[in-house]
Amino acid sequence: MTYAHLMTLANGHAGSKALLIANELGLFTAIGTGWRSAEEVASRCRANREGVRLLLNALVGLELLALRRGRYGNTPLGRQYLDGASPTAVTNLLWLLNHHWSDWTGMAAALKTGRRGWAAVTTTAAFRRRFALAMHERSHVLAPLTVAAMNVPRGAGRFLDVAGGPGSYAIALAERYPRLTGTIIDQHVSTARALIRRHHLQRRLTLRRGDLFSIDLGTGYDAAVAANILHDFNERENRTLLERIHAALRPSGKLFVVEFFLDGTLTKPAEAALFSLVMYKFTASGRSYAWRAVEGWLRRLGFGRLRRRPITAGIGLLEATKV
Ligand SMILES: C[S@@+](CC[C@H](N)C(=O)[O-])C[C@H]1O[C@@H](n2cnc3c(N)ncnc32)[C@H](O)[C@@H]1O
Repeated sequence: MTYAHLMTLANGHAGSKALLIANELGLFTAIGTGWRSAEEVASRCRANREGVRLLLNALVGLELLALRRGRYGNTPLGRQYLDGASPTAVTNLLWLLNHHWSDWTGMAAALKTGRRGWAAVTTTAAFRRRFALAMHERSHVLAPLTVAAMNVPRGAGRFLDVAGGPGSYAIALAERYPRLTGTIIDQHVSTARALIRRHHLQRRLTLRRGDLFSIDLGTGYDAAVAANILHDFNERENRTLLERIHAALRPSGKLFVVEFFLDGTLTKPAEAALFSLVMYKFTASGRSYAWRAVEGWLRRLGFGRLRRRPITAGIGLLEATKV
């Protein structure tokens, strides 16, 4: 770490926030596939002309926009991911990251006085819907890669997706294994319902709305997926949840845990350690866990044949068999 690195890190929020604010204003979508003047963009975003021009110029500086003869256009990357009209847009995911800005803002106070629990806004239907869309924008790229790394039991017929959210992992599994049928359980299911319909998987994927800790999960599943859910809870809650999943699997059934896993020092990868801190503020009791910790819980519950598989630099897949 040099002084220059330190200053880049200290000022890192400026570039991040320019991107997130532009997304909040709908600026990339307002530009779309055309080349527009600052006045046009300001008018389409219903925003102040002087301020929007400054933001546009900063975004060109960051190479998030292009400038040609006084007009602003999206880059190929922007057209693919930032223009809300693109089928691969990540506008809801950026919305969620902008929401985490409020978590960072309240972080110092929470570090002094302790956890505050879930913010009231996170329990509203509007938040849950947008959160689910954000999860899908994140997971629909990662899910096919992750599913390709899963060692699904030969001849498997039924799987359970615990806290399946928008259903991205269930959809990826159903698309890769045409004989599989799945049950997705979550407290919010309307986003998954729409996505399942879009993928014509209504006959193979069943949705059940309810609380993970009280709903009957069913029994006899060949496989279960728990993707990005352990970080919502503390150790005791996770052991309870994993015990329920263990009971729902048939003998030799497989569990696939997808998470931001930490190494034994709990410091690396830095992305997972930072995510853990955000979860301290965002959730009531969650954080990131070390591979070793989750493996210990699983062994004690009667899982064996544990296998680690890194999916990205931060995210990993832990596979376990009910022995
Ligand atoms: C981070 S998202 C992960 C969604 C999905 N598995 C994925 O990876 O895209 C966590 C999900 O857990 C659900 N969830 C959290 N606590 C829950 C509970 N007590 N009962 C049911 N669902 C819950 C949320 O609604 C959300 O969809």
